[in-house]
Formats: sequence, C-alpha cells, structure tokens
Amino acid sequence: MDLLIPDKAHDESRQGEALVLEPNGKHNGRKLYIESYGCAMNFSDSEIVASILADKGFETTKDFNNADVVFINTCSIRENAEVRVRNRLKEFAGAKFKNPGMVVGVLGCMAERLKAKFLEEEKLVDVVVGPDAYRDLPNLIEQVDNGQRAVNVLLSREETYADINPVRLNSNGINAFVSIMRGCDNMCSFCVVPFTRGRERSRDAASVVAECTDLFNQGYREVTLLGQNVDSYKWTAPVAEGGEALAVGDEVKIVNFANLLEMVALVSPDLRVRFSTSHPKDITDEVLYTIAKYDNICNYIHLPVQSGNSRILDLMNRTYDREWYINRIDAIRRIIPECAISTDMITGFCTETDEEHKDSVTMMDYVKYDFAYMFKYSERPGTLAAKRYADDIPEDVKQARLAEIVAKQQEYSYYRMQARLGRVEKVLIEGFSKKSDKDYCGRSDQNAMVIFPVTEGYKPGQYANVLVERTTSATLIGRIV
Ligand code: SAH
Ligand code: SF4
Ligand code: F3S
Repeated sequence: MDLLIPDKAHDESRQGEALVLEPNGKHNGRKLYIESYGCAMNFSDSEIVASILADKGFETTKDFNNADVVFINTCSIRENAEVRVRNRLKEFAGAKFKNPGMVVGVLGCMAERLKAKFLEEEKLVDVVVGPDAYRDLPNLIEQVDNGQRAVNVLLSREETYADINPVRLNSNGINAFVSIMRGCDNMCSFCVVPFTRGRERSRDAASVVAECTDLFNQGYREVTLLGQNVDSYKWTAPVAEGGEALAVGDEVKIVNFANLLEMVALVSPDLRVRFSTSHPKDITDEVLYTIAKYDNICNYIHLPVQSGNSRILDLMNRTYDREWYINRIDAIRRIIPECAISTDMITGFCTETDEEHKDSVTMMDYVKYDFAYMFKYSERPGTLAAKRYADDIPEDVKQARLAEIVAKQQEYSYYRMQARLGRVEKVLIEGFSKKSDKDYCGRSDQNAMVIFPVTEGYKPGQYANVLVERTTSATLIGRIV
C-alpha cells in the first residue's frame, strides 16, 4: 500500500471527488458530472474544464446517475491509479445503460497515455481528451451528440489556460491552487508525466499575479503555486507595457521562480504563499533567500529525493546525486532554519540492492523529514526505465523496503511534531475539524495540521496564534493564546 500523509497538494482523501458549481445563470438544460484523480494539477484542471463547460450552460451535479455528461479526470502515475479508474468506469456502465444518451469522457493523463486505444478497450467511453485539449470539449461533446466518438489528445507547447479564471466552488474559499506551469521536460526514467503532460511551459507571470490578487480580494488567504518542477519556471516578459509581441532587439525581463514568488508574496502580507513541487537539481539559493525574506511565503519545501543512493539516482535520470541533494538540504537549513521539508521516495527501483536501499534509509536519518510520500516502484509502459531496465525487484522485497521506510517516517514525523510542543504557531483557520464542530483546524506555516477549540472572535479565513500542548505524528493540538 502506498502511504500518503495528506497535505493540500497530495490529498488522498480527495481522490475521486466530484466538483460542483453554483449555477451561473446560463442553462443549456444539461448536467455535467466530473470527478478527479491524481495530483493537485488534475484537480486544478478539472476546475478549468468545469469553467469552460459552465460557460456553455452546463450545470454540475454530484450524482453521475442524473448527469448528461460524465467525465473522469485520470492519473497514470502508478499502475494502481489506472486500475482505480478502470473500476470506476464499470460503475458508470449501469448509469449509461439506463440513459444511453449519456456522454462518458475520459480526461487527463490516462487519456493522453492510451489515446484512441481507450475507445477500443472501454466500450462505454465516448470521448478521450488529453490535458492540453480542454478548450475543444464543447466541440467534442457536439461530435458525440452527432453520433460519433471523439478524441483529442494533441499536446501543446503553448497552452497554459492563462486566460481562464477557474471557478472554485468545492473550495472552502480560503486556500486555492494556482497553476504556474504545465508539462515536464525532465524525463526521470520511472515517470510517465512527460508523456502525458507534454513539454514544460510557464504561464504568463502577470496572469498568475492577477489571479492571486483576485483570489485575495475574494477572501482567499492562501495560494499554492503548482508545477511539476516550479524551480524551472521562466517567463519572458516584455518590458514595454501593453503586451505587444516582442521584436528582435526589444528589452526583455526574465521572471524566474524566485521573482514570481516575490511578486505573489507582495500581493498582500495576509496572503500565504505555498508551492509544489521543487526539484533538487533546480532549487536555487535565490529561491531560498526569497522564502526567508517574506513572512508570508511558508517555510515548507517539498523536495522529492526518490532514492538516497547515487547509482539509483543516476538510473532514475534524476540528474543529481546523494551529495548534491545533501548540499541542497544543508542550504535550506542554513538559509531557512525553521523550514519543514517533505519528500517522495520510491522503493524497489530496477536493480536496487539492499545496500542501496539502506542509503534511502540513512537519507531519512540525515534529513528527518517532516512528511514523506512513499511508493513501491511501478513500471509504466513507454518510460525510459520500462525500455531500458528490467523491473527485477520482487514484489515482497519492494513491499518490505516500503514498510521499513514508512515505519521510519512515522518516527520522524512524530519527532518533528514533538519539537513544536510548547511553541506558538501562526495558523490560518480553515474550518471545523473533521471530528468535531467544537474544534477548528488549520495549518501552521510549516504545513502541520493544527487542531484547537473554537474561540469567540475567530473565524475561518483568519489567522490565530495557537499554543501547542499535545501532538500526534500528524497533528498539533492546542489552544488560541
Ligand atoms: N514532479 C514531481 C513528482 C510528480 S509524481 C517531482 O519531480 O518530484 C509524484 C511522485 O510519484 C514522484 O515524486 C515519485 O515519487 C512517484 N512516482 C512517479 N512515478 C512512479 C512510478 N513509476 N512508480 C512509483 N512511484 C512513482
Ligand atoms: Fe516526473 Fe521527474 Fe518530471 Fe517529476 S520531474 S514529473 S518525477 S519526470
Ligand atoms: Fe498528476 Fe497523475 Fe498526471 S500525478 S500529472 S495526474 S499522471
């Protein structure tokens, strides 16, 4: 089993969540059901899809049984993510049998990976749409209405949906995801994302800042900037106002990730800024100094290591080694001493020996991560690793190695939480805790979940100073002081 400690960007409890919008006054008489799997990027994309279709008069529904259009936004990252989608499609089959006019569409990474093959393999699917083709959805639905099945899996070098202001009605009105780039150029050998999401491209910095400003004005107090590799964000902005096309010889200003972070931090000191995911090869000291400079850029970095062993990292094509990664950790500790760090790890990658696995364990001892997302290696068709290396570590070995690091992480998560005992955390109140409406929950700057009694004068969307009196391995418990 994969272990997922939920945070905003990788929330296991949101898998399969349906998106519902308030009616916007436009009606075409048809209802859309859309549910999402995978990473925060996919959840953010579903909001874009819903926005595009809401504009054409579709209303959303929480119940696929009474929907005219049923969309499933899919993930391909590991085999079990795809198995989950296949099983879900079986559940849609009954509804489609009762309502043969229902349009069933597969969106996202699995659609991109399997393309038209999906239509052969899953007879109930009418539309297959990749992550860069969502603007075409109204046309594709029309094609299906006219009795055809429809596919658009074209990847784009430019599409960033920058002009689409996503509707966010599932949200609590406090935290929002903002995509700052799409695709990935890194070609980690285990990873399917470069194939399903295409080339890396950055979104217009001005549109990112405008969206964050707009969110702040609507009452949002936290934005998470999203990209597969945010540290390679790069936007070439014309210096001249007005946005004319650049000509040879024009002066330009390059906006890098540190610059963008600063621009978003300056929207308001009351807007918290988070980001995910950082890549160890690209995270610069400039980014770290920017985080340190602004109180409202959270002291939390997700820095996936994948393996602690240099030979395995090389086979994974991560383009850094153990020493480099440790150097980045040391830089974080030096420049942002209070920074929480989380990671992703894969056990049982091709040819990994017991000794090499131990290097992942000792990396955990070195960093003492606050959180970790840990996975068994799952071979993905078409990736470099699938082509070059045999998936030769037996399942029980992968599992045992996973169990070992999961147990280790449990200890370090608890250790990190314990270190906060007796301290006062600045918490952005998100709402009532899951267990009781006598308690509020929210996150600390370091991204720890904090639970504390509802206190007069404090509402969700406000900040509170909470004294930590108890902890579990995943939660801080205390009271407002
Ligand atoms: N862009 C991010 C990660 C995106 S995928 C980064 O570079 O860190 C999220 C995580 O899924 C990865 O960090 C990796 O740990 C895991 N993952 C990706 N492909 C996998 C595979 N084939 N098997 C097991 N885990 C995988
Ligand atoms: Fe996949 Fe690597 Fe890109 Fe992350 S950086 S999305 S792991 S190829
Ligand atoms: Fe995300 Fe899964 Fe695609 S992790 S980018 S939805 S393969």
